[in-house]
Amino acid sequence: MPRSQLMTMFVFLIILPHIALVSSSSLRPGYYSERCPDAEIIVRDVMKRAFVREPRSVASVMRFQFHDCFVNGCDGSMLLDDTPTMLGEKLSLSNINSLRSYEVVDEIKEALEEKCPGVVSCADIIIMASRDAVALTGGPDWEVRLGRLDSLTASREDADNIMPSPRANATTLIDLFDRFNLSVKDLVALSGSHSIGEGRCFSIMFRLYNQSGTGKPDPAINPMFREELYNLCPLNVDQNVTGNLDATPTLFDNQYFKDLVAGRGFLNSDETLFTFPRTSKFVRLYSKDQDEFFRDFVEGMLKMGDLQSGRPGEIRRNCRVANSATVDHLVAEPQNRMESNHKSI
Ligand code: HEM
Ligand SMILES: *[C@@H]1O[C@H](CO)[C@@H](O)[C@H](O)[C@H]1NC(C)=O
Ligand SMILES: *[C@@H]1O[C@H](CO)[C@@H](O)[C@H](O)[C@H]1NC(C)=O
Ligand SMILES: *[C@@H]1O[C@H](CO)[C@@H](O)[C@H](O)[C@H]1NC(C)=O
Ligand SMILES: *[C@@H]1O[C@H](CO)[C@@H](O)[C@H](O)[C@H]1NC(C)=O
Repeated sequence: MPRSQLMTMFVFLIILPHIALVSSSSLRPGYYSERCPDAEIIVRDVMKRAFVREPRSVASVMRFQFHDCFVNGCDGSMLLDDTPTMLGEKLSLSNINSLRSYEVVDEIKEALEEKCPGVVSCADIIIMASRDAVALTGGPDWEVRLGRLDSLTASREDADNIMPSPRANATTLIDLFDRFNLSVKDLVALSGSHSIGEGRCFSIMFRLYNQSGTGKPDPAINPMFREELYNLCPLNVDQNVTGNLDATPTLFDNQYFKDLVAGRGFLNSDETLFTFPRTSKFVRLYSKDQDEFFRDFVEGMLKMGDLQSGRPGEIRRNCRVANSATVDHLVAEPQNRMESNHKSI
């Protein structure tokens, strides 16, 4: 048999099971029930403490699921710090000065490592913690599918290219979600995550002062709400100042959709869901029927949580650093080489 064929066989035998491991079909509820039976309780406990300490932090963690799963699948890539050889996602356009509460994930990981070291992935932590954020703020509770692996790397460029701008209109958002097989309904339901949390003046200056280059505010903003936003974000404001994404920012409810109907959406990407015909019917529906919103939201979170890259992965010891980054240091020391090779398999 030619050498190249042997090589192909080798690749199939060795690599294929690995890929199967990361395909979404292997994600399932109760994945940790044997090797870390308390995993979900531990995650929820830390999230509860975070909520008491700073209510907004659970919203900030919930946002991680979106920013993780859209960029090369739900693989914890957005948690990786930059290294001298890798520009990660933390400083990408949508994440810089915006994503926050990374320390809550660190705290969860530390608690899990203490109880069952090397078992629970950071990618799964994001999925469990996002669900908990919703449940702890009065939203639905649901069973999540687990068994993801953590990426070995991250890409600022991919995050820049994929994550949407707060200026985006509904058409752009529909197209983006469609690339991930997420429907118009999924888009609107998942945007309901803005029922909790805050956004910066930076994200709305254009719509307050120069929507689409007109030199005027977005006409879809309710005039009284516009005055409130002008007071929050005057032209010379520190653009890191934040406002609530809906009228009840620590309560996961359908207030967000009622606000959109009233022209009181914070972001352009929010209000556009009401002004565009293809999305407005869902906004109206959810503004009247919270149960329907909750059902569709859970469905959307499950679908988004199933996005996988199919790339090889690992269980990181520290969510901010790939394990191989530690191995790199050891390579200079031949004695440790065998041992570190073992660990990386
Ligand atoms: C549909 C497209 C979306 C766009 C354009 C968008 C954009 C934004 C922006 C601009 C902010 C405020 C950031 C800042 O000003 O620093 C924000 C906050 C937030 N986003 Fe989204 N988002 C979208 C979808 C989602 C999805 C699908 C989720 C989760 C399932 C999500 C969860 C959140 C949460 C919870 C916050 C508040 C975070 C905090 O208070 O720290 N977003 N989003
Ligand atoms: C939506 O935004 C895109 C990108 O900025 C733009 O090309 C398109 O014309 C906009 N669509 C509508 C209907 O305003
Ligand atoms: C979307 O669905 C198609 C057909 O089932 C599939 O081939 C494709 O990989 C899916 N895309 C994503 C991003 O999941
Ligand atoms: C508004 O935006 C347009 C186009 O982006 C730009 O040419 C103009 O200078 C802006 N006006 C102000 C007052 O910033
Ligand atoms: C927000 O604060 C960060 C530092 O915390 C600063 O680097 C950044 O320029 C500020 N952003 C804006 C829009 O003012």
